[in-house]
Amino acid sequence: MKKYLVCITGASGSVYGIRTIKALIEGGHEVHAIVSHWGERVILQETGKPASVWQHELGLSPDQIYAPDDLCAAPASGTFALDGTIVVPCSMSTAGAIAGGICLNLIHRAALSSLKEGRPLILAPRETPLSLVDLRNLTALAEAGAAILPCCPALYHAPQSMDELINFVVGKILDRLSVKHTLYTPWRGIT
Ligand SMILES: Cc1cc2nc3c(=O)[nH]c(=O)nc-3n(C[C@H](O)[C@H](O)[C@H](O)COP(=O)(O)O)c2cc1C
Repeated sequence: MKKYLVCITGASGSVYGIRTIKALIEGGHEVHAIVSHWGERVILQETGKPASVWQHELGLSPDQIYAPDDLCAAPASGTFALDGTIVVPCSMSTAGAIAGGICLNLIHRAALSSLKEGRPLILAPRETPLSLVDLRNLTALAEAGAAILPCCPALYHAPQSMDELINFVVGKILDRLSVKHTLYTPWRGIT
């Protein structure tokens, strides 16, 4: 069993974050979570349910959820040994803060802790088009060791539903963590 931190920010695509938590729990892993204030707002907008309801449905206990303003919480410290931190979806605002080394909330601090400790950090941005500022921030983050994994589902597997599109991105996140899953069928060539 491994220990992961999933952070949901206020970019569109909150379901990617929710599904990532679900898939990691189903894989038997310990999952901790932080939802930014704008993440909460977008979750409500996109799913019609508040983050607290999702927390309950996912079976996350209160000690696995951290308030985004609580810089005293465990994930603020590099001593909170995580096997990976995933920010999904990752807003351009959060990407910019992390790229600038600025800790305005616990998500920024946890991401920067991952980088300083040399632990896996996956950022899943959802923005289009990308400005030069965004591209420079994402480049700086990649140079610092983060994996930039855009919420960008492929179409070559002929998805028939939104579920398949979402699962593809979540599957790519789990691939990057070397977590086994059946969220999509790997490409086997054209038959
Ligand atoms: C409905 C809605 C959708 C948004 N979608 C995006 C998005 O896809 N990408 C993005 O970078 N920001 C998006 N934003 C803007 C962010 O929420 C905003 O930059 C916020 O400051 C992000 O804060 P956070 O990173 O702390 O969550 C959206 C905002 C709203 C209200």
